[in-house]
Formats: sequence, C-alpha cells, structure tokens
Amino acid sequence: MKTTSAIGAGAALMAFMLAGIGLAAEGGTLFERIGGKDATFAITKDLITRVKADPRIAKKFARSDEERLQYSISGYLCIVLDGDCNYPGESLKNAHQGLGVTAGEFDAFMEDLGAALDERKIVDPDRAAVLKALASARATVVESQAKTTGTDLPASFRPAPPLKFAEPAAPAPAPEPAPAPTPAPAPAP
Ligand code: HEM
Repeated sequence: MKTTSAIGAGAALMAFMLAGIGLAAEGGTLFERIGGKDATFAITKDLITRVKADPRIAKKFARSDEERLQYSISGYLCIVLDGDCNYPGESLKNAHQGLGVTAGEFDAFMEDLGAALDERKIVDPDRAAVLKALASARATVVESQAKTTGTDLPASFRPAPPLKFAEPAAPAPAPEPAPAPTPAPAPAP
C-alpha cells in the first residue's frame, strides 16, 4: 500500500540520518578525536621535552633548532592523522639521513611519544592508532638495526636551518604632510 511504503521510506530515511549523526558523534578523523591542532601542538611540545631529557636519545637532538622541530613534528602529526594542516618540514628521509638512528633509539622515541599521549589522557583505541600511524616511519628513520641506545650524533650531521615565518605586514607609510599654504602676497601700500 502507498501509505505504508511512504512510512517505510520515511523510517528508512530517518534510520539513515540517525546512522549519519551517530558516525559524526563518534568523531571525525583521528586528528580531531585527539583534540585537533592545540592538542597535537601540546603533545609535540611535551614529546620534545621528553626526548631532550631522555639519555637514550637526547644526543641526537642536541644541535637541532627546537622551534623548527616543534612546528615540523606537530605539522607531520597533523597530516599523518588526517588533519587539515600544512607540513612545513623536509621529507622524513631527508630529515633523518645521517643521524644514525638505531632501532633501539626509535623504540625509545616511541615510548616517549606514548608517555606524551598518556599525559594528555589519550586512551586506546586512539592511543594505539596514533602510535601505529607513526610506527610506519620506522623503516625511513632507522639507519642501524642495533638495539643500542645513546649513540652519538655523527659529526657530519648538518641540522636543518630555522624555519622562516612570514613577517607581519608593515604598517602603511604615513601620508605626506600637505604642503604649507603659500602666504598671500601683502597688499601693495
Ligand atoms: C615516529 C618516528 C619519527 C617521526 C614521525 C619523526 C618526525 C620528524 C619530523 C617531522 C622532523 C622535522 C623535519 C624538518 O624539520 O624538516 C624530524 C626531525 C628530526 N628528528 Fe625525527 N621523527 C621520528 C623519529 C625520530 C627518532 C627516533 C630520532 C632520534 C632518536 C629523531 C630525531 C630527529 C632529529 C634530530 C630531527 C631534526 C633534524 C634536523 O635538525 O635537521 N626522529 N623528525
């Protein structure tokens, strides 16, 4: 019957819309679920503090520009977690070439990242998903399969230069002062 099928179609449409709302409520991309740009920036800041204090890997970061690390790693986190950001840095291959990172040092870095996620109260399954997304960098970053940690930064390593940020627009120049009016000639006596 026509009425029944109209109700049926309406119910199906409603069910479809509710399913859509349900999906949206579960929360967009992994990047959005962990808190977006502010969260990834804070996680990166914490990660950098941890790696620089971690005797297993601190030496590797000793000569790198911290501000560049902050912007590049948080930008990388954003794109790898499906966020909508610009990544300002080098390819992972170029960034890590010649650093001599060992498999053991990679594991230490991932542990520090895990601790930074814990600090931010990011729990599974999102925590595991973030770690999995970054673990994919392993083959690119690791140059030695040794489990050793605390290896020296090779003297030949050249850190990337600081990032250049766009200068704030200079204020418009003040308009030229209008020329002083020429005094009218004094009337002839
Ligand atoms: C999941 C693993 C890793 C990811 C996703 C990652 C990501 C990045 C990114 C995005 C940059 C910035 C590139 C740029 O500024 O152009 C970077 C730089 C750097 N990374 Fe990693 N990294 C990882 C593991 C490691 C490990 C294990 C170490 C050392 C133990 C390390 C040491 C460094 C250093 C020293 C730099 C700065 C290089 C420079 O100054 O030119 N990274 N990393």
